[in-house]
Amino acid sequence: MPPFLRNLIDRIAPMPRGDSVRVWPWTVRAFHWSLVLAVGVAAVTGFVGGMSALTLHLVAGIAIPVLILLRIGVGLFGGGYARFDSFPPSKHAALEHLEDIRGGRHERHLGHNPLGALMVYAMMAVLLLIVLTGTAALAGMFKQGPFRGFIGFNAGWLIYGLHQPLAWLLVMMVAAHLWGVWFEGTRGHENLVAAMIHGRKAAEPPAPPPPARRAHPLLAAASGIGAVAVATLLVYRASTAPVGGLPPAKLDPAYAEQCGACHTPYSPVLAPAAVWRQLMGDLRHHFGEDASLGDPRLHQRILDYLVANSAEHSDTLLSHRMMQRNPADPMRITATRFWRFMHGGIPARVFARKKVGGRGNCSACHQDARSGRFLPENIHIPD
Ligand code: HEC
Ligand code: HEC
Repeated sequence: MPPFLRNLIDRIAPMPRGDSVRVWPWTVRAFHWSLVLAVGVAAVTGFVGGMSALTLHLVAGIAIPVLILLRIGVGLFGGGYARFDSFPPSKHAALEHLEDIRGGRHERHLGHNPLGALMVYAMMAVLLLIVLTGTAALAGMFKQGPFRGFIGFNAGWLIYGLHQPLAWLLVMMVAAHLWGVWFEGTRGHENLVAAMIHGRKAAEPPAPPPPARRAHPLLAAASGIGAVAVATLLVYRASTAPVGGLPPAKLDPAYAEQCGACHTPYSPVLAPAAVWRQLMGDLRHHFGEDASLGDPRLHQRILDYLVANSAEHSDTLLSHRMMQRNPADPMRITATRFWRFMHGGIPARVFARKKVGGRGNCSACHQDARSGRFLPENIHIPD
């Protein structure tokens, strides 16, 4: 390691003075800081990132359960203070620890103290719940991810209602955890953050040793990686289940030709049947243009196609929201509350760009507009 880097690390994470003992093995430290990174990315993309940050949000959301499963392997079969049985969840020990704090006593814990231990388990549980509710919401709202064949829009929307409150709960738990680290570090005159970086704590004053159990690094690795492999397989199996409630993947060619002559041909999922009927009922006065088709058979075919594939026939967030029209302007997709809400953050000059060509030109920014999916990962604004 180059000396300047060594110096920098010593600055950020100074070694304890005098003799020290190794408390946190590299597995625990790597888990801790990777989890901090993944949760940080998930929180930023989730709270302020908007729809176009969803891909990054999902990457972080996949990393979190993978990290936790690997940590469980180490917790069951690793050694020293990494093992779960060195910090068992115990109400009795936690209450005793609180009593110590109240009485101004300080019993040293080299590993997690009993309150910290409870927080570790609680945070892992809440994180897994956040990942599960997010996956269910993704399935219900976008028909994406491993549960997409199993969860309808209404269930997904309901579960989505839990995803964000759980995320706020986690924010509060992280704040409490940070406070605990500060409080215990100050009380015990120890740099606990540095210990989570280099892994060592001062040998004095003496503290109870971890349970004398032999570490099985191979077993720890195999069980962690095995659990990730099994979870991956289950997720893969689940995601091959047939998916219902999707808009038609391709547009009817006659429709695309006729109704794509002046603007992008809109997927039938973008309006309920009643709106398509009304719109097709008066093509002569179509937003100030004459869009009549001439051939009545062609007219009927397009009308049938639109009605048979209208918003009622899909089960995505988009199709459900497109049922709710703006009474002042029911024909326009771009007048619906949902559309306005989703695009409220985009400045008018972006829509005015030549390569965008107006609000109604969905396919300029949504690469999958013709499939009616409008998946967040397919958004790309041309510059
Ligand atoms: C002659 C040109 C023309 C043809 C052909 C045409 N349209 Fe349009 N359409 C327009 C214009 C102009 C607008 C208004 C665009 C605007 O104000 O941004 C419009 C708007 C729309 C909108 C509302 C879009 C929004 O901003 O929410 C829908 C839906 C629509 N058309 C459907 C159709 C369908 C279905 C067909 C085929 C039967 C069709 N159009 C054929 C010219 C046309
Ligand atoms: C200037 C580019 C642009 C145009 C044109 C545009 N969108 Fe979007 N749209 C976006 C962006 C960017 C977002 C994501 C906003 C955010 O991050 O919250 C978005 C979000 C959405 C969403 C919600 C998120 C999702 O992916 O499901 C839907 C649905 C949607 N747009 C539909 C439409 C439809 C329908 C049209 C055409 C009538 C349209 N958009 C036109 C840029 C555009």
